Amino acid sequence: MAAEFLLVTGGAGFIGANLVHRLIRTTGFGVINLDNLTYAGNLESLADISSDSRYVFAKGDIGNREFVRHLLNQYQPVAIMNLAAESHVDRSIVDAAAFLQTNVVGTYNLLEEARTYWEILPADRKQSFRFVHISTDEVYGSLGESGKFSETSRTLPNSPYSASKASSDHFVRAFFHTYGLPTVTTNCSNNYGPYQFPEKLIPLIISNALDGKPLPVYGDGGNIRDWIYVEDHCAALQMILQNNTPGEVYNIGADDEQKNIDVVRQICAVLEEVRPAAGNEKLAERGLKHYTDLITFVPDRPGHDRRYAIDSSKIKAEVGWTPAVKFRDGLRRTVDWYIAHTEWVEHVRSGAYQDWIHKNYAWRLEEKK
Ligand code: NAD
Ligand code: TYD
Repeated sequence: MAAEFLLVTGGAGFIGANLVHRLIRTTGFGVINLDNLTYAGNLESLADISSDSRYVFAKGDIGNREFVRHLLNQYQPVAIMNLAAESHVDRSIVDAAAFLQTNVVGTYNLLEEARTYWEILPADRKQSFRFVHISTDEVYGSLGESGKFSETSRTLPNSPYSASKASSDHFVRAFFHTYGLPTVTTNCSNNYGPYQFPEKLIPLIISNALDGKPLPVYGDGGNIRDWIYVEDHCAALQMILQNNTPGEVYNIGADDEQKNIDVVRQICAVLEEVRPAAGNEKLAERGLKHYTDLITFVPDRPGHDRRYAIDSSKIKAEVGWTPAVKFRDGLRRTVDWYIAHTEWVEHVRSGAYQDWIHKNYAWRLEEKK
């Protein structure tokens, strides 16, 4: 049993799974992964560490106060890292109810339980405890052709997703100012890398291209996102955990702005190198010769933010973090990972990952009501 635990929420999701792997690999902490396994939660991503003595999976909702209380009392974590969320903008446009429930109400309930737990900790543990809230640059809204988001930019969310995340950020801030709960909030740009659910742009384009399916580009493809390789984001979170000022906000970004259409074209170019379209039967069946022939412009997302860009000078100066992976290298690694993990992708696309979870984890899936 580990000496000290971290409670990570949403650890079965994309960033969470990368973070849990990293924490187990590079620290001595035990990790409790609290995740209620929505469609985005996939325990297959953590199969390799599932029997590690420092890893505990706890199936449950961040909004289930009794269950959260039980975990806090049992494991006495030194910090909570809150990644659990509904995270896909398109889904929030169709129906935002789950976004309010998890991102706003769930985070509020988690904050209340964290406060109750923290208030009666012994003085030294009380001083070092942290509630690290993982958020997005989308809370700042959309940029014009110039400028970047800083920690003091106004929150001007434009999608139901970003509105729910901005709301949770405000509650985190309020718990620091009102109750003194030592919180830290991070606002990061668009992540990409292994274990990302193939509804998001980069894994969707890789999977569709390999399957010879259309590559949907919203609007004119000129929207810009500031991309960060997920390992760089996780490294930043790990450094912030060790070195932060309570109540502060840290923006995280890797200075890698790309137009969506350029991202799609770069993925096609990498695929041509590692899996040439000429040898892909799925394209041949459709009489197509190049991955770029699959690019299809589709109607724009309502309220689509035009440009995001992050000024990460604060975390660089105060925490000493810098990103290590440039977009070109990270994209290559990501394409290689998806090609090497076709079973993971197939299970996600067919829904079989949920059967796998029940077969392999049935005994752990009891959530205390
Ligand atoms: P994801 O959708 O891949 O994973 C979310 C995880 O949270 C899933 O495992 C899901 O089962 C779990 N979850 C959802 N509701 C829950 C609940 N009520 N209780 C417990 N668990 C619950 O998301 P992601 O892309 O890994 O993002 C993780 C966090 O980082 C989110 O808070 C997101 O807003 C933030 N973020 C994401 C990005 C990005 O580009 N993906 C960028 C910046 C910030
Ligand atoms: P996404 O991965 O959904 O992240 P976010 O909306 O949080 O930035 O989308 C990234 C960008 O790609 C965004 O500008 C929308 C665009 N996009 C497409 O053009 N086609 C798609 O099929 C998807 C999913 C996204």
